[in-house]
Amino acid sequence: MGQVIQMFSHPVITLDDYPHVDAIADQFYQKSLGLMTEYPDAGLISDAWHSGKRAGNTDDFIKHGFTSYYSENLVKRTDFAFMNKAAMEVFAQYLRVVGKADSGMRLESAWASVYGRGHFIPQHTHPLSHLSLVFYAAATEGTGRIIFENPAIAHFQHFYPPEICWMPYRFSVQPQKGLFIVFPSYLMHSTEPHESDNYRVIYSANVQLEFSKLTDADKQRMKFATQT
Ligand SMILES: [Fe+2]
Repeated sequence: MGQVIQMFSHPVITLDDYPHVDAIADQFYQKSLGLMTEYPDAGLISDAWHSGKRAGNTDDFIKHGFTSYYSENLVKRTDFAFMNKAAMEVFAQYLRVVGKADSGMRLESAWASVYGRGHFIPQHTHPLSHLSLVFYAAATEGTGRIIFENPAIAHFQHFYPPEICWMPYRFSVQPQKGLFIVFPSYLMHSTEPHESDNYRVIYSANVQLEFSKLTDADKQRMKFATQT
Protein backbone atom coordinates (compact mmCIF):
# COMPACT_ATOMS: atom_id res chain seq x y z
CA MET A 1 0.00 0.00 0.00
CA GLY A 2 1.54 3.27 -1.06
CA GLN A 3 0.87 6.77 0.14
CA VAL A 4 0.64 10.30 -1.19
CA ILE A 5 3.19 12.51 0.54
CA GLN A 6 2.18 16.18 0.82
CA MET A 7 5.71 17.41 1.05
CA PHE A 8 7.00 20.96 1.56
CA SER A 9 3.81 22.48 2.88
CA HIS A 10 3.41 26.11 3.97
CA PRO A 11 1.09 25.75 6.98
CA VAL A 12 -1.64 28.31 7.59
CA ILE A 13 -3.91 27.99 10.62
CA THR A 14 -7.35 29.44 11.29
CA LEU A 15 -8.84 29.76 14.77
CA ASP A 16 -12.45 30.74 15.46
CA ASP A 17 -12.96 29.80 19.11
CA TYR A 18 -10.64 32.18 20.97
CA PRO A 19 -12.11 32.90 24.45
CA HIS A 20 -14.50 35.90 24.57
CA VAL A 21 -13.79 36.54 20.90
CA ASP A 22 -17.04 38.46 20.28
CA ALA A 23 -16.22 41.00 22.98
CA ILE A 24 -12.66 41.40 21.67
CA ALA A 25 -13.98 41.85 18.12
CA ASP A 26 -16.50 44.50 19.21
CA GLN A 27 -13.89 46.36 21.25
CA PHE A 28 -11.42 46.36 18.36
CA TYR A 29 -14.15 47.49 15.95
CA GLN A 30 -14.90 50.55 18.08
CA LYS A 31 -11.22 51.34 18.63
CA SER A 32 -10.55 51.12 14.88
CA LEU A 33 -13.29 53.62 14.08
CA GLY A 34 -11.62 55.85 16.68
CA LEU A 35 -8.32 55.58 14.79
CA MET A 36 -10.03 56.89 11.63
CA THR A 37 -10.90 60.06 13.52
CA GLU A 38 -7.53 60.23 15.26
CA TYR A 39 -5.52 59.96 12.02
CA PRO A 40 -7.36 61.84 9.24
CA ASP A 41 -4.19 61.68 7.08
CA ALA A 42 -3.84 57.88 7.45
CA GLY A 43 -2.96 55.48 4.64
CA LEU A 44 -5.42 54.24 2.01
CA ILE A 45 -6.06 50.78 0.59
CA SER A 46 -7.68 49.42 -2.63
CA ASP A 47 -6.35 51.09 -5.81
CA ALA A 48 -4.50 53.74 -3.73
CA TRP A 49 -2.55 51.16 -1.75
CA HIS A 50 0.48 50.35 -3.91
CA SER A 51 1.29 54.05 -4.34
CA GLY A 52 1.32 54.55 -0.54
CA LYS A 53 -1.14 57.41 -1.00
CA ARG A 54 -2.37 59.12 2.18
CA ALA A 55 -5.81 60.56 2.88
CA GLY A 56 -6.30 64.26 2.10
CA ASN A 57 -9.51 64.21 4.10
CA THR A 58 -11.86 61.62 5.59
CA ASP A 59 -13.80 61.38 2.27
CA ASP A 60 -10.78 59.47 0.94
CA PHE A 61 -11.51 56.71 3.48
CA ILE A 62 -14.99 56.33 1.95
CA LYS A 63 -13.46 56.14 -1.53
CA HIS A 64 -10.50 53.82 -0.85
CA GLY A 65 -10.67 52.40 2.71
CA PHE A 66 -8.45 53.05 5.74
CA THR A 67 -5.24 51.64 7.22
CA SER A 68 -3.47 52.85 10.35
CA TYR A 69 -0.25 51.20 9.12
CA TYR A 70 1.65 54.46 8.45
CA SER A 71 0.22 56.40 11.39
CA GLU A 72 0.86 54.30 14.48
CA ASN A 73 2.23 50.92 15.50
CA LEU A 74 -0.54 49.46 17.66
CA VAL A 75 2.05 47.30 19.49
CA LYS A 76 3.07 50.53 21.26
CA ARG A 77 -0.46 51.46 22.36
CA THR A 78 -1.54 50.25 25.80
CA ASP A 79 -5.19 50.76 24.81
CA PHE A 80 -4.69 48.00 22.19
CA ALA A 81 -2.97 45.62 24.64
CA PHE A 82 -6.12 43.43 24.76
CA MET A 83 -5.77 42.77 21.01
CA ASN A 84 -1.97 42.40 20.98
CA LYS A 85 -2.18 39.88 23.83
CA ALA A 86 -4.76 37.77 21.99
CA ALA A 87 -2.61 37.90 18.84
CA MET A 88 0.47 36.67 20.71
CA GLU A 89 -1.51 33.76 22.13
CA VAL A 90 -2.70 32.80 18.65
CA PHE A 91 0.85 33.12 17.24
CA ALA A 92 1.98 30.79 20.06
CA GLN A 93 -0.76 28.35 19.06
CA TYR A 94 0.68 28.34 15.50
CA LEU A 95 4.15 27.54 16.82
CA ARG A 96 2.71 24.68 18.90
CA VAL A 97 0.87 23.26 15.87
CA VAL A 98 4.00 23.30 13.69
CA GLY A 99 6.17 21.81 16.45
CA LYS A 100 8.20 24.91 17.30
CA ALA A 101 6.63 25.79 20.64
CA ASP A 102 10.01 26.67 22.17
CA SER A 103 10.80 29.43 19.67
CA GLY A 104 10.90 32.93 21.08
CA MET A 105 9.12 35.67 19.17
CA ARG A 106 8.69 39.41 19.25
CA LEU A 107 5.55 41.30 18.18
CA GLU A 108 6.96 43.78 15.67
CA SER A 109 4.00 45.66 14.27
CA ALA A 110 0.23 45.78 14.32
CA TRP A 111 -2.35 47.92 12.55
CA ALA A 112 -6.05 48.28 11.77
CA SER A 113 -7.75 48.35 8.38
CA VAL A 114 -11.32 49.38 7.65
CA TYR A 115 -12.96 48.44 4.35
CA GLY A 116 -16.16 49.97 2.97
CA ARG A 117 -18.05 48.73 -0.10
CA GLY A 118 -15.74 47.72 -2.97
CA HIS A 119 -12.51 48.03 -0.98
CA PHE A 120 -9.76 45.43 -1.20
CA ILE A 121 -6.03 44.82 -0.68
CA PRO A 122 -3.87 44.06 -3.74
CA GLN A 123 -1.36 41.24 -3.77
CA HIS A 124 1.53 41.60 -1.29
CA THR A 125 3.73 39.91 1.34
CA HIS A 126 4.81 41.21 4.77
CA PRO A 127 8.56 41.80 4.23
CA LEU A 128 11.15 41.12 6.96
CA SER A 129 8.67 39.29 9.22
CA HIS A 130 8.47 35.58 9.91
CA LEU A 131 4.79 35.12 10.76
CA SER A 132 1.75 37.28 10.15
CA LEU A 133 -1.79 37.25 11.50
CA VAL A 134 -5.13 38.74 10.58
CA PHE A 135 -8.16 38.96 12.84
CA TYR A 136 -11.61 39.88 11.55
CA ALA A 137 -13.36 42.15 14.05
CA ALA A 138 -16.17 42.61 11.51
CA ALA A 139 -16.80 40.65 8.32
CA THR A 140 -20.43 40.26 7.37
CA GLU A 141 -21.93 38.41 4.39
CA GLY A 142 -20.64 39.83 1.12
CA THR A 143 -17.11 40.35 2.29
CA GLY A 144 -14.43 39.00 -0.06
CA ARG A 145 -12.16 36.04 0.57
CA ILE A 146 -8.47 36.29 1.37
CA ILE A 147 -6.51 34.54 -1.37
CA PHE A 148 -3.09 32.95 -0.81
CA GLU A 149 -0.91 32.20 -3.84
CA ASN A 150 1.06 28.96 -4.05
CA PRO A 151 4.65 30.20 -3.49
CA ALA A 152 5.95 27.57 -5.94
CA ILE A 153 3.73 28.88 -8.76
CA ALA A 154 6.64 30.45 -10.63
CA HIS A 155 8.14 26.96 -10.96
CA PHE A 156 5.11 25.20 -12.43
CA GLN A 157 2.51 27.50 -14.00
CA HIS A 158 4.50 27.88 -17.21
CA PHE A 159 4.29 24.13 -17.91
CA TYR A 160 1.06 23.11 -16.13
CA PRO A 161 -2.00 25.13 -17.17
CA PRO A 162 -4.77 24.99 -14.54
CA GLU A 163 -6.77 22.42 -16.58
CA ILE A 164 -4.10 19.73 -16.18
CA CYS A 165 -2.46 20.91 -12.95
CA TRP A 166 -2.89 19.01 -9.69
CA MET A 167 -0.86 21.52 -7.68
CA PRO A 168 -3.25 24.27 -6.50
CA TYR A 169 -2.51 27.73 -7.90
CA ARG A 170 -4.11 29.42 -4.90
CA PHE A 171 -6.13 28.79 -1.75
CA SER A 172 -8.83 31.05 -0.33
CA VAL A 173 -10.34 31.48 3.13
CA GLN A 174 -13.73 33.09 3.79
CA PRO A 175 -13.41 35.68 6.59
CA GLN A 176 -16.00 35.87 9.34
CA LYS A 177 -16.24 37.87 12.54
CA GLY A 178 -13.94 36.46 15.23
CA LEU A 179 -11.69 34.50 12.87
CA PHE A 180 -7.88 34.53 13.23
CA ILE A 181 -5.60 33.41 10.39
CA VAL A 182 -1.85 32.91 10.91
CA PHE A 183 0.46 32.42 7.93
CA PRO A 184 4.15 32.57 7.00
CA SER A 185 4.81 36.22 6.07
CA TYR A 186 6.36 35.35 2.68
CA LEU A 187 3.05 33.97 1.36
CA MET A 188 1.72 36.28 -1.34
CA HIS A 189 -1.91 37.21 -0.60
CA SER A 190 -4.68 39.59 -1.58
CA THR A 191 -8.36 40.12 -0.83
CA GLU A 192 -11.43 40.12 -3.04
CA PRO A 193 -13.53 43.29 -2.92
CA HIS A 194 -15.75 43.81 0.10
CA GLU A 195 -19.32 43.76 -1.30
CA SER A 196 -21.25 44.98 1.74
CA ASP A 197 -22.33 48.28 3.23
CA ASN A 198 -21.19 47.13 6.69
CA TYR A 199 -17.56 47.84 7.49
CA ARG A 200 -15.02 45.05 7.35
CA VAL A 201 -12.55 45.69 10.19
CA ILE A 202 -9.24 43.87 10.45
CA TYR A 203 -6.40 43.70 12.92
CA SER A 204 -3.09 42.65 11.32
CA ALA A 205 0.20 41.87 13.04
CA ASN A 206 3.71 40.64 12.31
CA VAL A 207 6.16 38.77 14.52
CA GLN A 208 9.82 37.97 14.19
CA LEU A 209 11.17 34.76 15.62
CA GLU A 210 14.16 35.10 17.92
CA PHE A 211 17.18 33.07 16.99
CA SER A 212 20.92 33.38 17.37
CA LYS A 213 23.31 30.58 16.58
CA LEU A 214 25.71 29.88 19.46
CA THR A 215 29.33 29.31 18.41
CA ASP A 216 31.70 27.10 20.38
CA ALA A 217 33.31 30.31 21.70
CA ASP A 218 29.89 31.60 22.88
CA LYS A 219 29.29 28.34 24.74
CA GLN A 220 32.73 28.61 26.40
CA ARG A 221 31.98 32.16 27.52
CA MET A 222 28.61 31.06 28.97
CA LYS A 223 30.32 28.20 30.78
CA PHE A 224 32.95 30.57 32.16
CA ALA A 225 30.25 33.04 33.28
CA THR A 226 28.38 30.38 35.24
CA GLN A 227 31.60 29.20 36.94
CA THR A 228 32.58 32.66 38.23
FE1 LIG B 1 -1.36 41.26 4.31
